[in-house]
Amino acid sequence: GFAASAVTERSFIMVKPDGVHRGLVGDIIKRFEQRGYKLVGCKVLVPSRELAAKHYAEHDGKPFFPKLVDFLTSGAVVALVFEGKDVVKTGRTMIGATNPLASPPGTIRADYGIDVGRNIIHGSDSVDSAMREIALWFRADELANYTPVATAWIY
Ligand code: PPS
Repeated sequence: GFAASAVTERSFIMVKPDGVHRGLVGDIIKRFEQRGYKLVGCKVLVPSRELAAKHYAEHDGKPFFPKLVDFLTSGAVVALVFEGKDVVKTGRTMIGATNPLASPPGTIRADYGIDVGRNIIHGSDSVDSAMREIALWFRADELANYTPVATAWIY
């Protein structure tokens, strides 16, 4: 049956500029929808350097940090919030490894990429990161509260 407490976990998922330019937005949303995750937030924007630096704040100082900010601000991204059981960990599994070449076939990064600097998608790495990232990218009133009819068949 439907247990609200089991399905309130949320993850911040973002299609990066390479994924948007390559037309992968629909496929990425489709994979999460088909798995049973509920889309509660969605917007397209070109991130500012300030937003990109805040998003990747934990990597500030690492050698790849400036390139990471350049890349994320180089075009439009699609910021998404998906909700459902174990969405943070399962979302990471669906995305695959940081390096697409080390990612198993069937994962998003393996199916569409070969380069670590162009790895198509970001997904929160923990429930705490997800809460921080969702609050950074979305206002509370930009997240939808609803129960899709299909929920009764997924849970
Ligand atoms: S670390 O040091 O292990 O915490 O880094 P990692 O989690 O693997 O990566 C942090 C984010 O930086 C991206 N990344 C890179 N981008 C460009 N070039 C290089 N060399 C590079 N190495 C790591 C990586 O994809 C992570 O971004 P997200 O968006 O979270 O996937």
